[in-house]
Amino acid sequence: MNRTTVQIICLVLLIGLIYTGCKHEPDELDPGPDPDPTDHPCDPDTIYFEMDVLPILLSSCAKSGCHDATAQDGVRLDSYNAVMSSSVVRPGRPDDSDLYEVVTENDPDKIMPPPPNAPLDQAQQEIIRKWITQGAQNLFCDDLCDTVNVTFSGTIWPQIIQANCFGCHNGAGASGGVRLENHSHIAAAAAIPAGQFGSLWGVVNHAAGNSPMPQNQDKLSDCKITQIRKWIDDGSPDN
Ligand code: HEC
Repeated sequence: MNRTTVQIICLVLLIGLIYTGCKHEPDELDPGPDPDPTDHPCDPDTIYFEMDVLPILLSSCAKSGCHDATAQDGVRLDSYNAVMSSSVVRPGRPDDSDLYEVVTENDPDKIMPPPPNAPLDQAQQEIIRKWITQGAQNLFCDDLCDTVNVTFSGTIWPQIIQANCFGCHNGAGASGGVRLENHSHIAAAAAIPAGQFGSLWGVVNHAAGNSPMPQNQDKLSDCKITQIRKWIDDGSPDN
């Protein structure tokens, strides 16, 4: 070995030493085990029961006297445990799961929710199918809240009204006679001041003089309420 080779080897070792030294530093700052296992950002490809599936079940299936505590046909669909103990879901097998079967049924005598209630639309059916396919778990994540890019077609309709209100507020038998089926219905409700019957802002904020909505459920998340405020402040556009 000549001198240059020795120098090169020493240099490589030195660089290696410095590199490993630096590389290990972040490990020392590692906070250790996750202090809050629910503190995870939401994965757009994962279905979360509480956030995605439960609102559909509560507004379309667990209405009073149906699949709530009344448990029509022994089926109760107002919580994760209730759904799982009603034997309507086979994790991983949507086509063998009664829950998915009845909402995609063509026979008007078998479909759920039964007419004259509006059937679940394809996007809602797909959420149920995907949730079962992914193992029918009860996963949690952090609702990353976008209160800047709020649109009627991307936020207000699919994530708020359709998911949390539409099941009770559609058709001739709409609860309280309030129909929330399209942009004009919802913009009209948004224009009514809190405290007066029919006010979108009043009901979601549980304002005095309004019935708290969604009925018999937790208040919408702060994120959703802020998104509604943003949309109303923008002039309730049909965007
Ligand atoms: C499980 C069924 C159910 C769900 C889900 C539901 N509602 Fe209602 N809603 C009712 C019933 C029943 C009434 C009439 C009785 C009452 O006023 O309490 C009502 C009344 C209303 C009224 C008129 C009462 C008032 O005080 O202004 C508005 C507006 C309303 N709902 C909006 C909503 C909105 C917005 C959502 C979703 C965030 C929603 N509802 C979700 C059942 C429901």
